[in-house]
Amino acid sequence: ALFVKVDQDTCIGCGACGEVAPDIFDYDEEGISFSLLDMNAGVTPVPEDLIDDLEDACDGCPTSSIQVEEEPFEVEDEAV
Ligand code: F3S
Repeated sequence: ALFVKVDQDTCIGCGACGEVAPDIFDYDEEGISFSLLDMNAGVTPVPEDLIDDLEDACDGCPTSSIQVEEEPFEVEDEAV
């Protein structure tokens, strides 16, 4: 399975990803992209039928902000 997460520090909100993969990406109030599969946690497997869209989005992102891994992303600990 593949897991996806947007690097919101480098995303410039260009809007390409939501264009090609509207079932995966949405934008916050500042126009920065996030994975709507799990609010950008990167722990929910990308559904098989969305893999092509995911690849298109990766190829099209001008800042390479779309991170894809074969393992779930670590949950970031922001509290400490
Ligand atoms: Fe951001 Fe790249 Fe999408 S810059 S809006 S993650 S195509």
